[in-house]
Amino acid sequence: MKLIDGKQIAATILEEIAEEVAQLGEEKPAVTFIRVGEDPASVSYVRNKERAAAKTGIRSELKVFPESITQEELLTEVEALNNDSSVHGILVQAPLPNHIDEGTIFRAVLPEKDVDGFHTVNIGKLCQEDPTGSVACTPAGIIELLRRSDIPSEGKHVVVLGRSLIVGKPAALLFLQKGAFGNATATVCHSRTQNIAAVIKQADIVVAAIGRAHFVTADMLKPGAVVIDVGINRIEDSSRKSGYRLVGDVDFEAASEIVSAITPVPGGVGPMTVAMLMQNTLRAFKTLHS
Ligand code: GUN
Repeated sequence: MKLIDGKQIAATILEEIAEEVAQLGEEKPAVTFIRVGEDPASVSYVRNKERAAAKTGIRSELKVFPESITQEELLTEVEALNNDSSVHGILVQAPLPNHIDEGTIFRAVLPEKDVDGFHTVNIGKLCQEDPTGSVACTPAGIIELLRRSDIPSEGKHVVVLGRSLIVGKPAALLFLQKGAFGNATATVCHSRTQNIAAVIKQADIVVAAIGRAHFVTADMLKPGAVVIDVGINRIEDSSRKSGYRLVGDVDFEAASEIVSAITPVPGGVGPMTVAMLMQNTLRAFKTLHS
């Protein structure tokens, strides 16, 4: 069984980006993060993004707004960043409070500064296999993990669990693209899928992104399958100082016995998302200066 070490692969990618950033002139790529409220997971994710930026020489700024911010006020903030030529990337951390429509906010970000790849234009470019768009960070990170682990998806049956804009849908589109790390047969399962265990059993590659701790059990997996676990779930653990620990959507211990390769949680997909964000920021910088 191969453990796919996302932490290590992401560290290598950050070093590559740092080398490229160092070669740039005086002006460096700059990304602004917007966080609304104090959701503990979002606080932690955005902190990781700031740390990664610091490692690469990419400048980052964090703007934090209270939960009470209105959609109009948030749109005004995004608009100001769109118009600020010293900012090349804009990321509004999801989830947003219920009174704000996420889609409206994601579409307000200038497509060229949309380092999340959530804008309609960038999703459309992904569908059209137009490489000038930016691709959502977690799905891009999944493909990069497979590429750097020499696990091509060509001809394989990939079963994606979850249909979100952030992971499931763009991941399926990437697996359908032409190329050795695409060319897959992609099935997307979701909460209304019937007999999900039987579908998972057919998968050569499982991408679990449903956000339910240990949803995928070992008996659901085909022997020799490759498992990419996107879930980051907090479960109670009184033996930890924090009172919780992080687990994926897959029962890692049991699955490890029968799969050919698997990503750990933490240390699998999570660091790759952050590395791809830095890659998208560098690309946005280059596009805006071309
Ligand atoms: N929340 C969880 N993952 C992501 C992501 O990749 N981008 C943004 N903006 N929010 C998220």
